[in-house]
Amino acid sequence: MPRTLRFLPRSILSLATLALTFTVQAAEPAKPTAYQGDAARGQPIAATVCAACHGPDGNSPLSANPKLAGQHAAYLLKQMQNFKANGAAAPERVSAIMNGMIAAFTEEQMKDFAAYFAAQKQTGGEAKNRATVELGQKLYRAGDASKGLPACAGCHGPTGAGLPAQYPRIAGQFTEYTEAQLKTFRTSERANDPNKMMRMIAVKMTDAEISAVADYIAGLH
Ligand code: HEC
Ligand code: HEC
Repeated sequence: MPRTLRFLPRSILSLATLALTFTVQAAEPAKPTAYQGDAARGQPIAATVCAACHGPDGNSPLSANPKLAGQHAAYLLKQMQNFKANGAAAPERVSAIMNGMIAAFTEEQMKDFAAYFAAQKQTGGEAKNRATVELGQKLYRAGDASKGLPACAGCHGPTGAGLPAQYPRIAGQFTEYTEAQLKTFRTSERANDPNKMMRMIAVKMTDAEISAVADYIAGLH
């Protein structure tokens, strides 16, 4: 051992060790980031196969088929994953049509479809029932404290735009589709909502309240 090193103060030695640790850490390869999906790669199938029901730009012509345009990519992806049978297990979200539709596609393709539809612009819906708009708005903005019904706005936002990754956009969606989803949450036929968030809400709602809020939401932009 060279003389100089023998007399090196401990503090300098430990500093050198520290520097070495940092160098080793910095040299570790960066964790691969998860594939985010590519709208351009999703387009050829999305604008043909999916378009048959959801429209080429995700604005479905028929109210039975939800609009996908402008929906958050993370929510779209989650729904596709939920529609897909997971090995032997039944799909988490049951739909005679979508369970079959999504079966053949890979995780990467689903991410591409999600990116494609999220990048499209939703064309507006409208509230049609003047008689129930007031009730719909009240439920949406304030809920109904007397029966512990929270405001939809609390999670889906004041304009129904949702919150990426957690809460879907619901604004401008077809009344009939929203109504149908609230009813299947109510019976737990749709049970893919984290922590039963939507089931606990829908179970407190009457048919009249569901219709009113669904119609109000169709007119939100
Ligand atoms: C034959 C008609 C049809 C085709 C084709 C179709 N879908 Fe659907 N899709 C539906 C229907 C109907 C629903 C609503 C299911 C329900 O009521 O729960 C739906 C729901 C969805 C949802 C959930 C939307 C939401 O707001 O929760 C996503 C995502 C979706 N489809 C993606 C796709 C993709 C991607 C393709 C193409 C690979 C596709 N669909 C092709 C009919 C179709
Ligand atoms: C505590 C938060 C929370 C509140 C409050 C809430 N929601 Fe939701 N909602 C969610 C979550 C989370 C989902 C997504 C479930 C999933 O992942 O499939 C959802 C999904 C939905 C969907 C399905 C959207 C689609 O495209 O299929 C509808 C419709 C909906 N909510 C309507 C409402 C209405 C109407 C109210 C008020 C009466 C309301 N929500 C209040 C959290 C909430």
